[in-house]
Amino acid sequence: MGFNQKLTLSVAVLLFINQSSCLNNGLGKTPAMGWNTWNKYNCDISEDIIKQNAKKIVDLGLDKIGYVYINIDDCWQLADRDANGNVQADLTKFPNGMMAVGDYIHTLGLKFGIYSSAGTQTCQGKAGSLGFEKQDAQYYSNIGADYLKYDNCFNQGVQGKKRYTDMRDALNSTGRPIYYSICSWGTENIWEWGAETGNSWRTTLDIENFWASVKFNFNFNAQLADYSGSGSWNDPDMLEIGNNNLTIFEEKSHFALWCFLKAPLILGNDLVNMGPEVLAIISNQYLIDVNQNSVAQARCIMNCQQKSQVYHTQVHGNYPYDAILVMNWDNKEKSSVMIDFMTLGLAQYAYDKCDVFDMWAGSLIGTYQGRYFVNNVLPHNNVALKIQCKSFTAKDFLTSKSLLQ
Ligand code: GLA
Repeated sequence: MGFNQKLTLSVAVLLFINQSSCLNNGLGKTPAMGWNTWNKYNCDISEDIIKQNAKKIVDLGLDKIGYVYINIDDCWQLADRDANGNVQADLTKFPNGMMAVGDYIHTLGLKFGIYSSAGTQTCQGKAGSLGFEKQDAQYYSNIGADYLKYDNCFNQGVQGKKRYTDMRDALNSTGRPIYYSICSWGTENIWEWGAETGNSWRTTLDIENFWASVKFNFNFNAQLADYSGSGSWNDPDMLEIGNNNLTIFEEKSHFALWCFLKAPLILGNDLVNMGPEVLAIISNQYLIDVNQNSVAQARCIMNCQQKSQVYHTQVHGNYPYDAILVMNWDNKEKSSVMIDFMTLGLAQYAYDKCDVFDMWAGSLIGTYQGRYFVNNVLPHNNVALKIQCKSFTAKDFLTSKSLLQ
């Protein structure tokens, strides 16, 4: 074999190894945004419910701000496969089959998500995909799926890395880009091998519709910032906002915390009957900007062992800024938290002027030098700030000096 032939062969082998050992769907450059059936409807799903919620996304303009995935969770399929081993849609719930639902979702300009388990059955006892990865991946591609949530029930004790990699490769080989959402509940340190396998990975057991669960899932994910990056995100589970158990402050905090974590923002409520307060929370453009455009998952920078933590990340764009979240986990009001611009690395010099913008009010609070005090944060509530510091010019310095004399 001549040198050139050897070179060509080596390049081909390298390309093959590269292709077969990583996820190459090009998706999830920013955390996925959309809606899923599970938190609100569990198994009580139907073609109508999916269509109504999908239509509502468009009617409310939520698609324009990023919520584009309409994901059907467990119970769309039957427990048994057909004689050829094909997974079968439950026609009592989806009388026109799954492709018809996908077509409707696509007609609205949205993307279509489907669900299965890396086990013999799904968590609700429907047909799972273990051993049927290629056949099922081809089916998802045929019905036009754009997203797969892949659960962990009935896994027969087979190593997760093998089960999730098998489905990754099966999805890759369909040639259709399908966002791959791993739902392995944080087992086998998924964050350590998640990036080469999926677009996002669940880090915990299921979120529940109460504050302690939101808090637990957040805190667990907050420690995993090193593993999150473009195309591969920590997933603290879907949102419970609008499911009528959290207080309005807890709902606001749930949203802000997930945005700062760079978590997938998958709504889990009834959009058709959603009130204006919930709509205002989930469509807060400033927080969505943090979720979609920050450089990295936020990290705690102050009071990390206390009940009023301060999280920070930087946001890209034409006018880059620092995003700060003051979270009051306590059951009593927090009277004052000092944001010292230089100590926290937001300003270069003590005299720098910093614009402080309130993301919840959507307005500029004012321009401050040195520090800003966040006052009276109510229990379980948060304050989300955009802070932009400008270096003090020589002219400013002279003016301020003369003012001081
Ligand atoms: C598991 C998952 C949930 C949901 C249910 C469906 O518990 O973690 O998110 O998909 O299964 O049965």
